[in-house]
Amino acid sequence: MHSLTGGRGLLYGGDYNPEQWPEEVWQEDVELMKAAGVNLVTVGVFSWARIEPEPGARDFGWLDRVLDLLAGAGIAADLATPTASPPPWMGHRWPETLPVDESGHRLWYGARNQFCASSPVYRERALALVTDLADRYAGHPALAMWHVGNEYGQFCHCDDAAAAFRAWLRERYGDLDALNEAWGTTFWSQRYSEWDEIITPRRAPYIINPSQQLDYRRFGSDELLAHFRAERDVLRARTPDIPITTNFMGFFKPVDYWSWAPEEDVVSNDYYPDPADPQAAVRAALTHDLMRGLAGGRPWMLMEQATTGVNWRPHNLPKPPGQMRLESLQAVARGSDGSCYFQWRASRFGAERFHAAMVPHAGPDTRLHAEVRAHGADLRRLASVAGTPVESRVALVHDWPSWWALEERGRPSDRIDPVERLLEHYRPLWERGVSVDVVPPSADLSGYALVLVPNLYLISDRDAASLTAYVRGGGVLMVGPFSGVVDPRAHVRTGRFPAPLREVLGASGEEWRPAGGPITCRWAGGAEFAAHTWTELVRAEGAETVASFASGEPAVLRHAYGEGTAWYLATLPEPGALAELTDRLLADAGVTGALPELPPGVEAVRRGPVLFLLNHGGDTVRVPVPAPSEDLLTGSAPDGHVILAPRDVVALRSTHLGD
Ligand code: GLA
Repeated sequence: MHSLTGGRGLLYGGDYNPEQWPEEVWQEDVELMKAAGVNLVTVGVFSWARIEPEPGARDFGWLDRVLDLLAGAGIAADLATPTASPPPWMGHRWPETLPVDESGHRLWYGARNQFCASSPVYRERALALVTDLADRYAGHPALAMWHVGNEYGQFCHCDDAAAAFRAWLRERYGDLDALNEAWGTTFWSQRYSEWDEIITPRRAPYIINPSQQLDYRRFGSDELLAHFRAERDVLRARTPDIPITTNFMGFFKPVDYWSWAPEEDVVSNDYYPDPADPQAAVRAALTHDLMRGLAGGRPWMLMEQATTGVNWRPHNLPKPPGQMRLESLQAVARGSDGSCYFQWRASRFGAERFHAAMVPHAGPDTRLHAEVRAHGADLRRLASVAGTPVESRVALVHDWPSWWALEERGRPSDRIDPVERLLEHYRPLWERGVSVDVVPPSADLSGYALVLVPNLYLISDRDAASLTAYVRGGGVLMVGPFSGVVDPRAHVRTGRFPAPLREVLGASGEEWRPAGGPITCRWAGGAEFAAHTWTELVRAEGAETVASFASGEPAVLRHAYGEGTAWYLATLPEPGALAELTDRLLADAGVTGALPELPPGVEAVRRGPVLFLLNHGGDTVRVPVPAPSEDLLTGSAPDGHVILAPRDVVALRSTHLGD
């Protein structure tokens, strides 16, 4: 990231699709970009057909002119490999490159993403193009970053994909006996006797083998990654100093970003909070923290967002004035070293013609574009924030294979959504200004005072041992219900649950009991509270019962273990009770928030020496702040407090000598 921000400060810009416009417009684009403080644009994401109008042809002239123009204006290019949308000639001449859905139907060209990552023809043609692109632009003064593909995420069920799936399985299991064992194929007469019998989980008459499904998801994520790597390697060989990224999509289920992130130089994300979602600010914060986790705590980059309404929801609410700035600065506060948008200039035609942009259809003489310019100035004022870290003492565990396995059909309830569970636990921390790192279950937890595992349905022995060792060494751990249920093959772990965590939790269970209605619980010696959706029949085995169900059976348990403490929830407390529980967890861990007092809706997050306060609420509020300090955004020096109107942001740097 440093090679990008050094000398530029925070990155500001968006997807730039000049191929949709006559060249006269490009000159105006660049003038407007300069005026807005744009310093990075993503070019060429969907330009395959323009560069390669027929198989093997090359037309780089227009792209030469675009990149020269940008370089002349001092605007860096995040140059894309345009392989997310092959031209129609590809599908027409080589239909086997087109993806096939689970029903065996081929998906055609006419939109985008019409490729199968396992297709040898697609791969060969994509890599040939990437090679020529890299050869041509290596050393170009505009080239600052490579953007590989776009939003990887779609799987295929064609014969090429099935063959690749078999190869992946051979690698994983070695022989068919091991595969049959892992997939539990004695169930429903599913035993495979030859490798060629194995297919991707195509549509079947009833519930498909969950272990097969889980492996197909692992394979799908790996297969896309293999293609990403192949493109990356071509680029890296030719431009070893140019960082490489591909744009993620937050908590996007199909792709295991923990395995992807180490393969790229810059973690970048596309994120579109829904203005109609009352939880949007919290969800966005959680997603940004995931990106920081994926980047290993280093800065990441918000690659795409919308200046106002998108066009792909059924009813697209616009952002009120100031919301674009608020959301952008929220990402910066949480570790993003840039704020980029989809897209620079609104398209006149095509499927995204009603999607917001930095230059709307009405042109630059608009309220929205004025906001875009003003925001460029904000980001320049925050240039010193680039590269600085966000420190957290709390970790929230998220795992893709566990998510995949949990959401297979045939489970006790479909109402345990692991991302919603993360959000439930994250919210009270966010409200208290407690910074959180999102980490994988395999993370080194030793630096954290508190680790939250709202749901980890699938857990490996090694990860269970790591959680146990963490508590033994003095950590505070919270484990939510229906965790530790299956092993990495998706086989239920037998014995009292959660079998691999029984010792550390000092408790164990025997029945999962989804609830038919509201659940009443009571804190030991205290008030009643409500829980929802789920209960378990558990017993204490050394843990104290902190809260019970109306039946008197334990609902929340706390266990002193080794030097630390482990908590177990046998239900899903409603938000009020979860907030109370969070206070107890924070007290056990000795963690406090960024500020002692935060009005509702105000987000507080410290990045390096800067304390960001962001008002997502509807009221003007007064927030006591440490003095003396300076607001980097306005240059003002608050005297012990700040007044924040709705959507206001301050970025306070302490001016205390020695800070
Ligand atoms: C994603 C894609 C873009 C565009 C936007 C629309 O971010 O990467 O190409 O489709 O969504 O919101």
